[in-house]
Amino acid sequence: MNQASRQPSGPNDYSRLGPIAPLMSNPRVTEVMVMGAHDIYVEVDGKILLTPISFASDDELMAVIRYIVESVGRRISVESPLADARLADGSRVHVAIPPVAVDGPLLNIRKFVRGPLTMEDLIRLGSCSESAFGFLKACVLARANVVVSGGTGSGKTTLLNVLSGYLPDDERIVTIEDAAELQLRQRHVARLEARPAGPEGNEITIRDLVTSSLRMRPDRIVVGEVRGPEALDMLQAMNTGHDGSMTTLHANKPRDVLARIETLVLMAGYDLPVRAIRAQITSAINVIVHLERLRDGTRKVVQISEVTGMEEEVITMQDVFRFIRSGLDQQGRVIGRFVSTGIRPRVLDRLDDLGLEMPAEIVSLFHEAAHSAQ
Ligand SMILES: Nc1ncnc2c1ncn2[C@@H]1O[C@H](COP(=O)(O)OP(=O)(O)OP(=O)(O)O)[C@@H](O)[C@H]1O
Ligand SMILES: [Mg+2]
Repeated sequence: MNQASRQPSGPNDYSRLGPIAPLMSNPRVTEVMVMGAHDIYVEVDGKILLTPISFASDDELMAVIRYIVESVGRRISVESPLADARLADGSRVHVAIPPVAVDGPLLNIRKFVRGPLTMEDLIRLGSCSESAFGFLKACVLARANVVVSGGTGSGKTTLLNVLSGYLPDDERIVTIEDAAELQLRQRHVARLEARPAGPEGNEITIRDLVTSSLRMRPDRIVVGEVRGPEALDMLQAMNTGHDGSMTTLHANKPRDVLARIETLVLMAGYDLPVRAIRAQITSAINVIVHLERLRDGTRKVVQISEVTGMEEEVITMQDVFRFIRSGLDQQGRVIGRFVSTGIRPRVLDRLDDLGLEMPAEIVSLFHEAAHSAQ
C-alpha cells in the first residue's frame, strides 16, 4: 500500500491540547514531557529544557490526557493507568496517571518529524561519516542482518529508517512496529502495527505479527524494535531465508546487545540451552550498529561491529568503525572522528558472492585490504 494514503488516527487539532499546543506547533521541539500540571519539559536540539508553561491544574491536564487517549478509542483510569496513543500527525504518546504516577499525571509526546532525518542530515549533524554509511549500505545490499542498538532516544528508529532507504525497490518489505513510525520511501511495503488489548479487541503482539509476516512472502522484514520473546522468531526468520532483515534493540553497549537478545529469547519460554541460543545469534546477526546520545545532546553512531563466530561459549565480534572522541570544542560540543579499524569486513565477501559492487564511499578504505587478505 502506498503509505501516503494511510491516515493515522487520533486528534490532529492542537488547539484541544491546551497550554502545550504552541509546543506542538514549534518545529524545534522534538519531545514534550509533562510532569503534573506545573512542570513541562521539552527537548530542543537534543537538550532537555524546563518551559515556563503550565496547566491550570491536574484536572485540566487530565482532561487533555483523556481527550488524546479517547480519540484513539482507548481508556485511562485508576484501574488501567497506563496508555499509548498517537496524534493524527503521527506523534507517539505515552501516558501514566496516579496511582502509578506518584506525583501527578505524566504525559510524553515524541513528536513526529515530517520527512525524517536523511543520511545527508545525519552526516551534516556529525552523527555518522560518509564512509560508515557506505559500509552500512553495503550491509543492506549484501543482505546482512543488522541490529541498530542504543539507549532511549539515541536515534535508533531514525537510523533504521535511513538504512531501510537502501533496500532495493524490487523487493517485498514487511515492517512490524509497536507504533508505526518508519517512513519508507519504497512503494511495496506491507505495514503491520501491534496493539494492546482494549475496546478494539485482543492484544496483537509484535510476536504475532512476526509470525504473520512470514506467511506474506517477505523478502525483508523490518521490525521497529525487538523487546520481547519475538527475538526468537526474529532470529529464526533471519536464519531461514529472510536474511537482510533489520531491527533495533535497546542496549547501552554493543556487547550488551548479545546478552540482551539471549535474555529475550529465553522469555519465549522454551528451555533452550544457552549454547544453542548463542549459536543461533551468531549465525543470524551479522552487524551491530551502536548509537549514543552524548552529553552535548548530539547523537552519534559510536561503533559498528560484525559478529564473527563463536569461541567456546563466547560470541566473537570485530569492530569495523569507531567514533574516537578527542575532546570538547569551545561550545562544549564533543569533537572526534569516525575511523575505520582497517579490518576488512566479512560483509564484503557476501557482497562479492552476490556479484555486487562495493559502494564508492568505501572502495578506498577496503580495496587494498581485499588483496592483502587473499
Ligand atoms: N542523529 C540525530 N541527530 C539529531 N537528532 C536526532 C538524530 N537521530 C534522531 N534524532 C531525533 O531524536 C529523537 C529520537 O529519535 P529516535 O526516535 O530515532 O530514537 P530511538 O532511539 O528510536 O528512541 P526510542 O528509544 O524511544 O525508540 C527524534 O526526535 C529524532 O528526530
Ligand atoms: Mg525507536
